[in-house]
Amino acid sequence: MASNLSKKDAPKNISNNFKTLGDDDFIVSKTDTSGKIIYCNEIFTKMAGYPASSLIGANHNLIRHPDMPRVAFKLAWDLIKSKKEFFGFVKNLSADGGYYWVFAYITADLDPSGNIISYTSVRRKPPQSAIDTIIPIYKLLLEAEQRGGMDASAKILNGFLDENKLGYDEFVINLQKGATI
Ligand SMILES: Cc1cc2nc3c(=O)[nH]c(=O)nc-3n(C[C@H](O)[C@H](O)[C@H](O)COP(=O)(O)O)c2cc1C
Repeated sequence: MASNLSKKDAPKNISNNFKTLGDDDFIVSKTDTSGKIIYCNEIFTKMAGYPASSLIGANHNLIRHPDMPRVAFKLAWDLIKSKKEFFGFVKNLSADGGYYWVFAYITADLDPSGNIISYTSVRRKPPQSAIDTIIPIYKLLLEAEQRGGMDASAKILNGFLDENKLGYDEFVINLQKGATI
């Protein structure tokens, strides 16, 4: 069934209310190849603050938070469309205008011939140390995007990783394990 919700229905009253995932919680969703939600688990509906009936059929960008740099989603889509895994920290927007941080894993689902039929994402609670590290980095990326578009933010991200001699996956997985840079 198609959802009536789209990005224009997302809350405009962005606030500092936040929710935190439990240590054993997993948020799971699946999308079609265009990013429309085709499945979500109960924890997803609780954290996002919409009933499942409103989420199914909605574009996943309904819960995109304005603090998220676009380059993070570009990286995710480039990887998953080429059947590679994406790991990353995502600040999501709840229906009440608040937010919740997740460590997301997204991957393509393939049919027996290897064609992409859908995408699946599983998210866990990130440690506070990872959130504290990622907030100023995303802020820099967002500001760069506002000035010079995604080329500018990609340059900053790559420069930061080179400077710290880290691959992107290594950087985020280390943060999720509690490391600091
Ligand atoms: C399986 C899957 C899960 C996704 N989960 C999220 C999510 O939790 N939050 C989010 O903002 N975007 C998520 N995205 C990315 C969105 O599709 C979209 O690229 C992003 O929200 C930016 O949207 P926009 O470019 O229209 O602003 C997900 C994509 C896929 C394929």
